[in-house]
Amino acid sequence: MYKIDFAKYPFPARTRHHTNPSFYIALSELEVKPDGYPPLLASINWSDYFINSMPPTKLDIGCGRGLFTLTIADNEPQNNILGIEVRQWCCDWLQNFIHSESIANCGILRYSVPNGLPFISDSSIDEIYYLFPDPWIKTKHIKRRAFTLDFLNEVYRMLNDSGELYLATDLEEVHKYHIHLLNKFGKFQHQVITNDSEWNKPQTNKEIFCRKEGIPFYRIIAKK
Ligand SMILES: C[S@@+](CC[C@H](N)C(=O)[O-])C[C@H]1O[C@@H](n2cnc3c(N)ncnc32)[C@H](O)[C@@H]1O
Repeated sequence: MYKIDFAKYPFPARTRHHTNPSFYIALSELEVKPDGYPPLLASINWSDYFINSMPPTKLDIGCGRGLFTLTIADNEPQNNILGIEVRQWCCDWLQNFIHSESIANCGILRYSVPNGLPFISDSSIDEIYYLFPDPWIKTKHIKRRAFTLDFLNEVYRMLNDSGELYLATDLEEVHKYHIHLLNKFGKFQHQVITNDSEWNKPQTNKEIFCRKEGIPFYRIIAKK
């Protein structure tokens, strides 16, 4: 796991769990653009994100505090990983860390995923991670979940022929919802993962918290 010197890189003293609720909704569904809404993007100049100027082959969607993103970047220097996150403070902290530590293959983008990911080319991604992203349990909040059929269409478009989508959640209801939507979408073969060796990925910040607190969590790998 990636070692971070928190004395040198402290998190901000006060951080919010969520940002403005409308930031989780596609801009096209909002009547007015809220102040601070993450910019929409049609294309990206990858030299702004990665030293080798190449596009990413891994996406960590809803990367949060980014331990997983940083660990993958460290373990796999040959791959570029892009962390996508809507919360400003997480992006600011991660961007400062990556810049200060000269991490060549890790980029962070502040963006809200329900707007689609048109700046990622078709069939260009090996692995997409969507780990503990949607804490929206109440029925009235389901519209804030980024995991939708449109999202699955985007994932399918971006993944290459052997590409994989990794899903994790600590909410059984959200896990069932993932399975329900994967079945409805029908183009992926998915498997519920019950042991760590089948998963074989670094722990995320949220996963570490769940393990420490004894909170169960649920994992799925979906293949094209
Ligand atoms: C519970 S945290 C988990 C973070 C990390 N993946 C982990 O496992 O530690 C969920 C993250 O997903 C982000 N997120 C939720 N909806 C999003 C969206 N529409 N676009 C981008 N990020 C989103 C949240 O801001 C939050 O930081």
